Amino acid sequence: MDKQVAEKIAFNEQSERRYQEALEMYPTKEAALLPVLWIAMDQFGALPTEVLEYVSSRLDLPPVRVFSAVEFYTMFYREPRGRYHIQVCRNLSCTLRGSEQLMGLLEGKLGIQPGETTEDGNFSIETAECLGSCGTAPVMRVNDTYYEDLTIEKLEKIIEGCLGGRSSSELLG
Ligand code: FES
Repeated sequence: MDKQVAEKIAFNEQSERRYQEALEMYPTKEAALLPVLWIAMDQFGALPTEVLEYVSSRLDLPPVRVFSAVEFYTMFYREPRGRYHIQVCRNLSCTLRGSEQLMGLLEGKLGIQPGETTEDGNFSIETAECLGSCGTAPVMRVNDTYYEDLTIEKLEKIIEGCLGGRSSSELLG
C-alpha cells in the first residue's frame, strides 16, 4: 500500500473500539472479517482498494481473501453510494407484486438508472436479490430500513420524505 495512503486510512476511536469488540467475539481474526468490513464501510462510506488493504493488514489476511469476500457479498460496496441508497427487490414475489413499476417510478423521479447515483449525491438506486421478506412483497430497503407492502402511493411518500431530509427510518412518518 502507498505509504501516504496507509497513513491516512486508519480506524477512528469508535471504529477501533468496535474492531476490538469484534475480535473478542470470534475465535480467529479471519472469522471476524465480515463484521470488520461493516465497521470499515460505516467509517469510510465504501470499501475502496486502500480500505481493503488496511482491513487485510489489520486482520493479517492475504488481500485476495478480503477482496473476494467483498466481491461475493452484495451488501458491501466499493464505491460510495447516495445519502439514500435504495435497493428494490427484483425476485419473484416482488416482481409479481409490482416491483418493476416501483423501480420505474424511482428512475423517472430521480433521473437515474439502477447502479447510478444522482449528481448531488443524495440518491443511488439498485435492484437487489430477495431481501428475505417475500410475504410482504414488494419490498425495498433505504439504507438499513425495510419498506414492505409497497404501493406507488407509499413510494411517492417515501421519496418526499427523502427530499425533505428525513432519516431513512422515518420516511413514512
Ligand atoms: S422476493 Fe422480494 S423479498 Fe423475497
